[in-house]
Amino acid sequence: MTETGNLESVWVFGYGSLIWRPGIAFHERRVARIHGWTRRFWQGSHDHRGLPDAPGRVVTLVPKPGASCEGVAYRVAAHLAAAVFEGLDHREKNGYQRYDVHLEFRRGGTDAGVAYIAPADNHAFLGPAPIDEVVAQIVRSAGPSGSNSDYLCQLEAALRRWEIEDAHVFELAKRLRERMKAG
Ligand code: SIN
Repeated sequence: MTETGNLESVWVFGYGSLIWRPGIAFHERRVARIHGWTRRFWQGSHDHRGLPDAPGRVVTLVPKPGASCEGVAYRVAAHLAAAVFEGLDHREKNGYQRYDVHLEFRRGGTDAGVAYIAPADNHAFLGPAPIDEVVAQIVRSAGPSGSNSDYLCQLEAALRRWEIEDAHVFELAKRLRERMKAG
């Protein structure tokens, strides 16, 4: 968990839906990397891309020594930070918590930031599953924010737009397309 007060501005690091739909007031955004974490479709979604009795799968960050995760960091002015965090706390309420992270910007420099991460002990955590099961769950799931397939496709497209590599997401998206083609 993190302290957000007394700063001129604060960086919010997005690695999932926050990349393509930040929905927050920011002054600047930059591609950034955090070390020791990897992006995984291991978090259940009961409120956005699934339903309470039929959760979808969305991304969280999972600790992994030697790994790193690239995403998009948003610089939020200090006077807007409380409102931004209030909105994000609500949006990410299904198991995510604020974590302090150390950002390395693609174009150089580092700074402190905050990421919303759903840890393995949260009530909605699903963890790993065989890739075909993950894809099947994504195909059949939908919630108030839209279909789970749309979430995966939007994430893949956003990562490619920002030239961010992610073998896990790209493999899932490839399997999803194959499955849809097969009908
Ligand atoms: C994030 O985008 O950083 C958090 C996970 C999500 O909302 O998809």
